[in-house]
Amino acid sequence: MLFLRAIISVVALVAAEDGSQAWLRYAPVVQGEISTFSPTSIIALNTSEISPVYAARQELQKGIRGMLGVQLGFNSTKNASAIIVGTVEAYKAKYGDLGEQEQLVDDGFYLNSQGRNVLIIGQNERGALYGAFEYLSRLAQGNFGPVSSISNPHAPIRWANEWNNLDGTIERGYAGPSIFFEGGFVKENLTRVAEYARLLASVRINAVVVNNVNANPTLLSARNIEGLGRLADVMRPYGVQLGIALNFAAPQTFGQLDTFDPLDPKVDAWWGNNTDQIYARVPDMAGYLIKANSEGQPGPLTYNRTLAEGANMFARAVAKYGGVVMFRAFVYDNKLNPAIWKADRANAAFEFFRHLDGKFDENVVVQIKYGPIDFQVREPASPLFSALRQTNTAIELQITQEYLGHQTHLVYLSPLWKEILDFDLRADNKSSQVKDIVSGKRFKRSLGGFAGVVNVGTNTNWLGHHLAMSNLYAYGMMAWDPSVDPETILQDWARLTFGSDRAVLDTITSMSMSSWPAYENYTGNLGIQTLTDILYTHFGPNPASQDNNGWGQWTRANKKSLGMDRTVRNGTGNAGQYPPEIAQMYENTESTPDNLLLWFHHVPYTHRLKSGETVIQHFYDAHYAGAAVAQEFVKQWESLKGKIDEQRYQEVLFRQEFHAGHALVWRDSINQFYYNLSEIPDEAKRVGIHPFRFEAEKMTLSGYRPYAVNPFHTASGYTAVVTTSNSTVGTATVELTVESGVYDVAINYYDMDRGRSEYEVSVGNRTVGKWTGDLERRLGRATSVYLDGHSATRITFRGVEVRKGDVLKIVGKPDGIEPAPIDYVSLLPEGVVD
Ligand code: GCU
Repeated sequence: MLFLRAIISVVALVAAEDGSQAWLRYAPVVQGEISTFSPTSIIALNTSEISPVYAARQELQKGIRGMLGVQLGFNSTKNASAIIVGTVEAYKAKYGDLGEQEQLVDDGFYLNSQGRNVLIIGQNERGALYGAFEYLSRLAQGNFGPVSSISNPHAPIRWANEWNNLDGTIERGYAGPSIFFEGGFVKENLTRVAEYARLLASVRINAVVVNNVNANPTLLSARNIEGLGRLADVMRPYGVQLGIALNFAAPQTFGQLDTFDPLDPKVDAWWGNNTDQIYARVPDMAGYLIKANSEGQPGPLTYNRTLAEGANMFARAVAKYGGVVMFRAFVYDNKLNPAIWKADRANAAFEFFRHLDGKFDENVVVQIKYGPIDFQVREPASPLFSALRQTNTAIELQITQEYLGHQTHLVYLSPLWKEILDFDLRADNKSSQVKDIVSGKRFKRSLGGFAGVVNVGTNTNWLGHHLAMSNLYAYGMMAWDPSVDPETILQDWARLTFGSDRAVLDTITSMSMSSWPAYENYTGNLGIQTLTDILYTHFGPNPASQDNNGWGQWTRANKKSLGMDRTVRNGTGNAGQYPPEIAQMYENTESTPDNLLLWFHHVPYTHRLKSGETVIQHFYDAHYAGAAVAQEFVKQWESLKGKIDEQRYQEVLFRQEFHAGHALVWRDSINQFYYNLSEIPDEAKRVGIHPFRFEAEKMTLSGYRPYAVNPFHTASGYTAVVTTSNSTVGTATVELTVESGVYDVAINYYDMDRGRSEYEVSVGNRTVGKWTGDLERRLGRATSVYLDGHSATRITFRGVEVRKGDVLKIVGKPDGIEPAPIDYVSLLPEGVVD
């Protein structure tokens, strides 16, 4: 046995670590009381291949083999010591009373390893599988001690949403194309879908809506219904049900009716009919997700029908199958008039839905984004949570980092979610935490829960960034139990993903726990929102894009003041949408927490925060502080070299380096923008002052010409250089007047889409480095065809010997539409970041 164990360990050690197994690696366990592990076989109480109990059996065998080098056989009768996995009902039928099952609810499980046998008993089959994963997770973390526990879900709905288009693209997806669709249809090869379902099951997610909320009606074609059937088939063994998003106008645009009026009997019958066809192929479909009358999508308001009438039409169609309708509250007018001081997109969901409370059918769940706008780095909880008392609700979270760095910035999101979920809305002056509202507990609703927009892609590691997978893990675990501490979840994930080396755990914990505050600091703090480019891709900085358009993500920044006045007294009245205790808190600047000050109040740049600092100085300081933290991530990660397998180490390092550089782009861009607008200098004399930089436009240029960058603040000195044509090789040179010594050479350039320029930099004729502008291929973030805050990138060459008087030369060879653009070069003495 020991010999076998040793061989398996060696095999597992050299096995490639590419992130495809995420937290289910089952790497050999080296810690804990391994010798106390006693089971010799597995007894599964259902051996039908489509049963999650069967999947649990396979998983237990695989996991234990991988971790302990022990090959457990399958058995059907109790022997010396077995792992018994199955449902309460199956257990009772075979062995009699269990005693503990009274307290179990659907999907819950009972885990007991105190007696001769290990019992993994689910309330249903899915619960049994969850229990098996829990048991394996404990072993993987070296936890071999006895356990006897009951675990029940906080809420019945724990869904993933995938914004996948049928052509294989993914809206706001940053990890390659779809695993579900290509060319207008469901993919033929669904191997990855099965693997994904396994991952989801391991974090207790019980359904996936596979297509984009901006739904394509051709999903309902006969070929696609057949495809949906195949999707459901491969996910079923993991207890993951299929859900689909529908297009409200489908009866007309796809079904060729002359209307899609939800109260027209023809339309009702059409949906009934189509629903029957889908359920004929997918009898256990979870239900529908509907985005209606939002961002140009059709909906019931077109026919002067209420949103509830629209939702209930679908609810009637799925009710007989036990299906639910997730109806999104993300309804707003995207053509708001910014000239109207009291106009406010944040008011929309509450205004559209509040008066419909009690009008939704029992199987409708209103799916509410966590904040009133749109997944910003900081938002208050949506007031709608406290307004719907006779309606089921769910909270919508985003795992894909749409406004939070597209998985190129490390941002661990669980602390953000935790703040929202724990927030007490004080409905009727009673404890009303968001988590208890969406579970149904607070307002005694039968249904409710969580929806998380994940957007995994074909990228081997699912989300593009190995470390971003902590967000998917945390999402599942928090939907199951929102009371768990984000740091505890993170550490479980880190141990499962990278092993239990103390330095690895501490470093990942420290980086991840400081990542959201850092991101907030260098993007948009004090509740101003992320300050990204809301008119193009939501990635890099562009604060001006927020204002003066119909989208309503306004900051109202002018020369003297900024922030949205959402007070009842003088503003949009949004604060008054909250229950009285909260409304009162947000109504006044003194009682509004600083981190939401500019969300609720329009104040002068010179307004003093609770810290005594002015708003503008705080902006400057926070942007410097946040970006400095991101620089540390590179060093912290490098301290793990040799402690993490090479592939994942290098892949994470690549992203951390990009992240560190892009955090500086954010810092400088935002600070420069507000400095220009307010004309209030930075007390610390940093903003706009860069003693270590050589601006490319001031170098001696040949084949390069200056280029005024737009937005201006995304270029140092507002100007970059580009080659004079798309076939001319450019050269920029500068004599270095610095003292001789060792420097880091950092070069800011623009890595645009549709071009792979080649660069070479030398100092005193000694080549320092070469690189290609090909991040559109390597990074997965949404790219840009412009020189702007999205394409702005920094590359750093460390430890370069420089002699006073050396000439620094950059040669840029353009490619495609990319004219080898360069912004500036920084020559940084040790320890300096500029
Ligand atoms: C955001 C996002 C869109 C998405 C929408 C939604 O606005 O940018 O891509 O469709 O939210 O949630 O429906």
